[in-house]
Amino acid sequence: MIMAKISCFPDKRSFDIEPSETILANLLANGIEHTHVCGGNAYCSTCRIMILDGEQNCSAPSAAERALAKKLDFPFHIRLACQTKVTGNVSIRRMVIDDEDIDILEGQLASGTANSDRHVALVFATIRGSSNFDEVNFHYDIVYIMNRYYHRIQRVVKQYGGFIPNVMGLKIMAVFGAEKNGTLAAERAVWAGLDMLEAVKELNTFLKQLSYDPLHLSIGINYGKAILVAIDPEKPDIVTPLGNVANTVSRIELANKELGSDLLVSESIYHLVKTSANINRFNTVRIGNDEFKVYEVAAMQGDRPKVSIAKESIPAPTRIMSFFQRFLSKN
Ligand code: FES
Repeated sequence: MIMAKISCFPDKRSFDIEPSETILANLLANGIEHTHVCGGNAYCSTCRIMILDGEQNCSAPSAAERALAKKLDFPFHIRLACQTKVTGNVSIRRMVIDDEDIDILEGQLASGTANSDRHVALVFATIRGSSNFDEVNFHYDIVYIMNRYYHRIQRVVKQYGGFIPNVMGLKIMAVFGAEKNGTLAAERAVWAGLDMLEAVKELNTFLKQLSYDPLHLSIGINYGKAILVAIDPEKPDIVTPLGNVANTVSRIELANKELGSDLLVSESIYHLVKTSANINRFNTVRIGNDEFKVYEVAAMQGDRPKVSIAKESIPAPTRIMSFFQRFLSKN
């Protein structure tokens, strides 16, 4: 009988494997210390592998593996070594091989996802027209004013279920719809953008009393598919978006300068909110080598979207620590 072969990366080793053997059992028998925190019970996902070749030779996922893969949004080529058997040659890449992988995996377990593909709405906001704001004012006043500004913007963003992963000086990017099964991301983002403008208007009343020039907030909003990457494994819910939607949103904001507007949205946002948005005008702007339609939103009609995002009452680091302690104590 010709035995199936398993080629294992990054170890660059190959082994014969019996059809009755799981990949995990085969790796361990051949001296590869593949991580398997729950002891092969399809519970921890630390034995995850990427199938590089030979997917058709792998056994169908067990019910337990299907449940875990669904919870973590695994794509089809990520399998649990403890559940997978093979009937022909396969190439695999082990995915949890060092401390860094463990840190990332802890974050994925805490957030309940390992997949980072989402349609999100991004709000890019910056203070314009006061380019030397942080140079001409007293330091104490700058800190005081900017604390108020960030506090108000944060409050608005949270109110609509978003978060701010990126702040650089006077520039802020907020993300809406990154949570699992997030809905109404575009509506929430536009409402948040309009409320941010209101918040800065109120702040300007206060600045006037201090004899400072008013702040001028400029906002661009875009919607599309982004890859979400956690920037801190201890805060897996805070992700930064990558992809064209993120590259373009700052340029949509920049078009305010050319058009003399405060809040512009992309065509993708417009199509999602057009029944409830009051559009002042639309225009075509050049962004890089491409031309884009942008729409100036003056107001939204109807009720503000209600946000109810399920929150785990126990902090994520506490949950993950107890998770690992339970399994480590069993081994
Ligand atoms: S060892 Fe835990 S899921 Fe496979």
